[in-house]
Amino acid sequence: MVEAATFNESPYSPDEVRGMLTAGRQRAWLALGEGQVVGFVIGFVTHGLRGRCWEIDLLAVLPAWRGHGLATRLIRAASAHGARLAPRARAVIADDNSASRHAFERAGFRPAPEMCDLQIRRLTGLHLRSPLTLGVTVHEATRAAELSHWLPGLQALPQSAELSVIVAEQHGDLAGYAELIQVETLLYRGVWIESLVAHSRPARAALVRETTNRALVAGLDEVGAMVPDKDRAARQALRSAGFRSLGTFQWLVAELPLPGLASLPGGGLRSVLPGQGGGGLGV
Ligand SMILES: CC(C)(COP(=O)(O)OP(=O)(O)OC[C@H]1O[C@@H](n2cnc3c(N)ncnc32)[C@H](O)[C@@H]1OP(=O)(O)O)[C@@H](O)C(=O)NCCC(=O)NCCS
Repeated sequence: MVEAATFNESPYSPDEVRGMLTAGRQRAWLALGEGQVVGFVIGFVTHGLRGRCWEIDLLAVLPAWRGHGLATRLIRAASAHGARLAPRARAVIADDNSASRHAFERAGFRPAPEMCDLQIRRLTGLHLRSPLTLGVTVHEATRAAELSHWLPGLQALPQSAELSVIVAEQHGDLAGYAELIQVETLLYRGVWIESLVAHSRPARAALVRETTNRALVAGLDEVGAMVPDKDRAARQALRSAGFRSLGTFQWLVAELPLPGLASLPGGGLRSVLPGQGGGGLGV
């Protein structure tokens, strides 16, 4: 109901959402007012080359209930749970969403210095395309050593079913890599391009083509990337591959646990039981 009154983008039925929030990796926190749900936030863990991260997603409060600190409390409740699962947290905020930015900052997050272009490619109706060759081949990385040119400190590739790292070779030399994280949210199932690094345009284009093909084969809905504004080459490669910009966005980041959680105000606050799908947040 709150999702429909705010984002109104979820393609899933209430039963499907219930299944995702209990059997899947996502967890929800609810703000309750006058016996009904008036706000919610979703959190889930991702596992990338930089380790685990607690992703805070889809924060929303019904218009009549805004401006009372509910979003801030939802973020803090979700972050308290996330602190058991990951050493850091983050969220994506539209550049012009001051209310959301304030709520995250109030909760203890800080904006990352760089603005990003959020680029996505919806996959519905797309067909597999033959790999781009141009002297480039792409394969799955199996050893950290394949990335040592870019990530000299990386000891081992993290073992996670949701993470894959693909490497481009051009004329026999390593020419780039892409770090891909598979995610399921209440709005879509997709791949995030967490990093896209390449020495040449053909290598970059081949990595993007391979990413899209893999997402298609996996039956996913979309591929997305937060591309730092200064990374023109990546933006160009994604645009050429049919991605479109959703506008300027920013990461809001925090180390976990957030400071001062023990003294969180609000007598009605109840924490979420581990392994359960939803939590109550008394208003
Ligand atoms: C963003 C949203 C969840 C905030 O909910 P909320 O319960 O009103 O947030 P809070 O009451 O915790 O407000 C947090 C801060 O933002 C401030 N704020 C609220 N609306 C604001 C606005 N339009 N512009 C600037 N600041 C605003 C509040 O004053 C408060 O700051 P303070 O604590 O320093 O006084 C709500 O506006 C919403 O559902 N928006 C639509 C969906 C959305 O944009 N979600 C976020 C996607 S990342």
